[in-house]
Amino acid sequence: MIEAVERKIAQFIVDLDDQDTVVLYNKLPRGKRLRAKLILKIAGEGIMAVKTAAIVEMIHAASLLHDDVIDDAFVRRGDASLNALYGNKTAIMFGDVLYSKGFYELNSIDREVAKVISNAVVQLSLGERNDVLLSAYFNHDKEKYLKMIYQKTASLMEASAEAAALLAGKPREVYRTYGRNLGIAFQMIDDLLDVTQSAEQLGKPAMHDYEEGKATLPFIYLYEAMNDEEKAALSALHARVLKSEDQQWIASMMQQYGIIEKCYAEARLLIEEAITLMQHAGEHSLEKIARAMIERSF
Ligand code: IPE
Ligand code: IPE
Ligand code: MG
Ligand code: MG
Repeated sequence: MIEAVERKIAQFIVDLDDQDTVVLYNKLPRGKRLRAKLILKIAGEGIMAVKTAAIVEMIHAASLLHDDVIDDAFVRRGDASLNALYGNKTAIMFGDVLYSKGFYELNSIDREVAKVISNAVVQLSLGERNDVLLSAYFNHDKEKYLKMIYQKTASLMEASAEAAALLAGKPREVYRTYGRNLGIAFQMIDDLLDVTQSAEQLGKPAMHDYEEGKATLPFIYLYEAMNDEEKAALSALHARVLKSEDQQWIASMMQQYGIIEKCYAEARLLIEEAITLMQHAGEHSLEKIARAMIERSF
């Protein structure tokens, strides 16, 4: 049960014996707890699985606190982000507390499990850095984009699934691939929603990624498909505040070239592979999690 994970995180926070941290933690909306759910579905709900899930969610929350500072994002989990409420310094320091407590607790779980998780956090940090580096120019290189989203997002889901398989004595490679595919597809869809959803649906400005300089998969494919004149016009809008007519033009170009469908198809392929793996493993609830991912709209 996910409540056991919530209790474990709350206990980790209380352990720190710091009232300010408790107050900040209580300000943090919970999120979907997707990584924790993956772990419990794969490894069951024993104490080690619950502990691992709590550590992963704490680390994930830390990464989001830092991410919102990096991205100047003022909305998170449908609420004002912590940096919006208390400023960047507080968000960074609270992120550090969650990261370091997570790493401290990794000491008390199986060595191999700890290694898998801590390695993923290194990848995540490199991915966040590469995301920023790639946004300094209009990146057209799909391979660079794929590597970056693997690092920043898929690595922790991959590690969650692999760590859980280790705890449960299940074949780690199968679950690792499942988690990786899920993670890459998850970020692809996150990037697609930025283009397809309205600001109201997103709870943050639409097409914000491109304004921030991030050429996500739909922009890479759109650029590839365009003629020279259109390419120049798209490039001129990179990392700029988009007027509503610019947004409409981009949306109509994406429609003309069938870009949204192309991106969905690519995410769907990864999800289908993940589903097939879980069908063979007889893991029906993990199959369902994969299916739900392709259908999500927020
Ligand atoms: C958000 O992850 C960050 C990305 C990797 C896109 P989630 O959507 O899993 O975040 P929460 O924990 O549910 O808020
Ligand atoms: C995901 O990055 C955050 C991490 C992997 C730490 P993004 O910046 O793309 O995600 P959102 O849109 O802010 O959730
Ligand atoms: Mg962000
Ligand atoms: Mg980011």
